[in-house]
Amino acid sequence: MRAITEIREDIASCDKELARLLARRMDCIGEIIDYKKLNGMPILQPEQEARQRKLWEGILDGNLYEEEQLEVFECILQMSKKVQAKALFAQNIALIGFMGAGKSTVSHCLKDMLAMEEVETDTMIVEAEGMAITDIFAKYGEPYFRNCESKAIIGLQDRRQVIISCGGGAVMRDENVENLKRSSRIVLLTATPKTILERVKDSNERPILNGHMNVEYIAELMEKRRKKYEEAADIVIATDGKTVIEICEELVQKWNEMEGGQEGNGVITEASMEK
Ligand code: S3P
Repeated sequence: MRAITEIREDIASCDKELARLLARRMDCIGEIIDYKKLNGMPILQPEQEARQRKLWEGILDGNLYEEEQLEVFECILQMSKKVQAKALFAQNIALIGFMGAGKSTVSHCLKDMLAMEEVETDTMIVEAEGMAITDIFAKYGEPYFRNCESKAIIGLQDRRQVIISCGGGAVMRDENVENLKRSSRIVLLTATPKTILERVKDSNERPILNGHMNVEYIAELMEKRRKKYEEAADIVIATDGKTVIEICEELVQKWNEMEGGQEGNGVITEASMEK
């Protein structure tokens, strides 16, 4: 049997090798993003993740530590997604739009695909107040809720590279838009009143719509809010008839177009942070 010092030296050299290989793998991720951008390929490609998992299973098949190593690969995948997200987004992604426009759905999907952190202003309010949104409206009224919303947005100013899913009425206050813009690019999701009704009709968690669940009311309120939504938006995405993956991909593409294409291995420069 080898001496314990010798075994430990072996472990240390394995770790060094692993660190070198991991850094090489991360460099490849940066290269892939640059390649996709240059060749106009979709960035997200969720099918590649499935292929990758199949590949690992093949590599590890029959390996004594198969289960444990698969866990390590999953962890590496999450790291790679984070590297991707950092290369793609220097700022927060603030999702705005009418109730039912798909903000939470798009946020969850981006979180899964890019291992990004997500926050919802509504959830922040529910946690801070210890009450459901409908109860806050019923007990304290809408102006109180709107103040909570403004406070939640101020509380997000120091965050970066986070997905912020804003309540549907958040950008009606100009100060909220200003505060969001300090650290975020604003993405407006739109849908027709008919699509909105389809998506929200079975929910009673939106006090603004309770008792008004019809296309006419939705269309009227949407029209009242339209100017504020459009003025706040850096990017606009129509969601009708699109899958969530298509919407996320469109978001990434439009975001890249705005950046004007960052150069060099997906590295975020000071200059790109200021854009
Ligand atoms: C509201 C939208 C809701 C929530 C509250 C008020 C609105 O969020 O903030 O019920 O005024 O549009 P969602 O857009 O996430 O439903």
